[in-house]
Amino acid sequence: MKNREDIALEFNEFSKNYTSDMIRCVPHYMEMVESFVNFLPEEFKPNSILDLGCGNGNITAQIVLSFPKATYTLLDASKDMIDLCRKQFQAFDIKYANTYFNDFQFQKDHYDLIVAGFSLHHCDNDERQELFKKIYSSLKDGGIFSYSDLMISKNNPEHPGLLQEWGNFVNSNFPDGEKWAWVMEHYKNYDNPTDFTVQLKWLKNAGFTKIELPFKDGYWIYLQAVK
Ligand SMILES: C[S@@+](CC[C@H](N)C(=O)[O-])C[C@H]1O[C@@H](n2cnc3c(N)ncnc32)[C@H](O)[C@@H]1O
Repeated sequence: MKNREDIALEFNEFSKNYTSDMIRCVPHYMEMVESFVNFLPEEFKPNSILDLGCGNGNITAQIVLSFPKATYTLLDASKDMIDLCRKQFQAFDIKYANTYFNDFQFQKDHYDLIVAGFSLHHCDNDERQELFKKIYSSLKDGGIFSYSDLMISKNNPEHPGLLQEWGNFVNSNFPDGEKWAWVMEHYKNYDNPTDFTVQLKWLKNAGFTKIELPFKDGYWIYLQAVK
């Protein structure tokens, strides 16, 4: 893994063609993005929302359609990603935090909803466990933490099979193989996915009791945890 300062630079570069690359490189990407709204309980009406690793804003773009009056905080280490969000969300009540997760001051009992789309696998294991605790503390009672990610550790015996299937998907969209080579380089340098069972233990340690997987296809998972 490269050091964390490089993540911001990597995503400044990635921001240029971000959504179309994600759709063609991440199986079920749009389905999981839409899950952030489709699987919220009907009676759940968040007023205060935090998007961790917001990227170019694809998760928030779904949520604002349903909750246009809510207050949002969008956090990302990449300045270029934050700039894309600033352009897109001018009509909404949004604060921006161009910072790393570790450097953000999480307010206690503050948010109704905290979301993280495909961003937590960039943390190392200790950072993610600490982050789950901060997220739990920062949610109001009854608040929801939801995130999507690839949930398999690189040392899981099933991991080579996952790479084979994932590579077939990417190569079917980019037949010259160059994009898959780029994905694997990024994956080696910046990604630290973790088995779902391990994350479940960390979530429970942080205090979450009601944890559901509204979307799951293999190791591509969208998860909801209630405080
Ligand atoms: C794969 S993108 C996901 C963007 C968006 N949430 C989505 O679902 O498409 C991951 C984002 O997380 C940000 N990120 C990764 N690690 C981070 C960290 N430790 N602190 C803050 N942002 C981080 C990156 O800059 C990038 O914009």
